[in-house]
Amino acid sequence: MKRLIIVTRKEKLDDIKNLFRDKYFCGMTVSDVVGIGNQSDYMDDEGVRLDKKGNIDVHLISKVRIETVVMDDQVEPLIEDVCETAYTGRYGDGKIFVEDVIDAVRIRTRERGEDALSTAYRH
Ligand SMILES: Nc1ncnc2c1ncn2[C@@H]1O[C@H](COP(=O)(O)OP(=O)(O)OP(=O)(O)O)[C@@H](O)[C@H]1O
Ligand SMILES: [Mg+2]
Repeated sequence: MKRLIIVTRKEKLDDIKNLFRDKYFCGMTVSDVVGIGNQSDYMDDEGVRLDKKGNIDVHLISKVRIETVVMDDQVEPLIEDVCETAYTGRYGDGKIFVEDVIDAVRIRTRERGEDALSTAYRH
């Protein structure tokens, strides 16, 4: 199992949510966050401005953070689909971080590992 942490534009949340619902049936945890990416680009709209003295003025940008734990064979298709969905081509489209997950537990049933992951949306 892997955990994908997707940090991207807030306005992309609905599209990513629909992608998960329609194709991957994976659970997700969503948070509002602020962050900074690379700081090499002056005057982009994502993290670096110049102050009145011309110094780099680093500021935090609001983003959405979507966390999902999925089966290994879902990782590459998910990365591809999320990149396609979240892409605008401008600075600040976001990042995807991938981590190993050693176990999961569905508390209600005590299912473990992949069995504990969401595989369908149901009540
Ligand atoms: N190395 C990192 N560690 C943790 N969070 C990061 C890292 N890089 C980016 N982020 C988070 O992702 C958000 C979006 O990053 P962003 O898309 O600006 O990345 P970037 O590397 O600057 O790429 P780009 O050049 O396309 O802007 C940041 O606001 C921050 O919250
Ligand atoms: Mg950036």
